Amino acid sequence: MTIMPSNKADVTASNLREVLSHYLTGVTIVTVTKPDGTPYGLTVNSFNSVSLAPPLILWSLDNKNSNLGLFENTAGFAINIMAADQIDLCRRFAGKDSDRFVGVDWTFGTSGHPLITHALAHIECRPWQTYAGGDHTIFVGEVIHAQHLSDRPAAAFFKGQLGQYES
Ligand SMILES: Cc1cc2nc3c(=O)[nH]c(=O)nc-3n(C[C@H](O)[C@H](O)[C@H](O)COP(=O)(O)O)c2cc1C
Repeated sequence: MTIMPSNKADVTASNLREVLSHYLTGVTIVTVTKPDGTPYGLTVNSFNSVSLAPPLILWSLDNKNSNLGLFENTAGFAINIMAADQIDLCRRFAGKDSDRFVGVDWTFGTSGHPLITHALAHIECRPWQTYAGGDHTIFVGEVIHAQHLSDRPAAAFFKGQLGQYES
């Protein structure tokens, strides 16, 4: 019997979402300062490293996000790598709260974008390249400043649940 290889796609969105949910990730909050000076941020687990020389990272944003234009036109953004004891904040920055930064300790980084105090690490970027990625837009950022702040357990995302990873 000859088995013919097939490259016909047979994946559905719900099938893919379920399969990918078994890939454990960390959790970040990506932040940007709007032109009017107010902070915006959202919870993101599509963050990943890309290159050391030049220093590049990436993350992707749903094209339905109303702040897509903000990230397409910004001169930079910041990645906050979140700790397990900041899971409530990760939930808030993925939810309907209109002012997500109320009561949150944060400062402006050297690049002018919000850095969440007590995050595990801060990564400040300027735009490198933007790519169309289906229903998401992929932002590759050039890292201009990176700082590790704490060794507390990390926030993690697995099978649709926020949890914690401890080394
Ligand atoms: C753990 C987790 C990871 C997420 N990762 C992403 C992501 O990588 N990209 C994205 O566009 N939305 C992601 N989201 C959803 C956004 O956080 C959410 O849609 C966003 O906060 C909506 O913001 P808005 O109300 O300002 O449009 C994630 C949500 C959670 C809970």
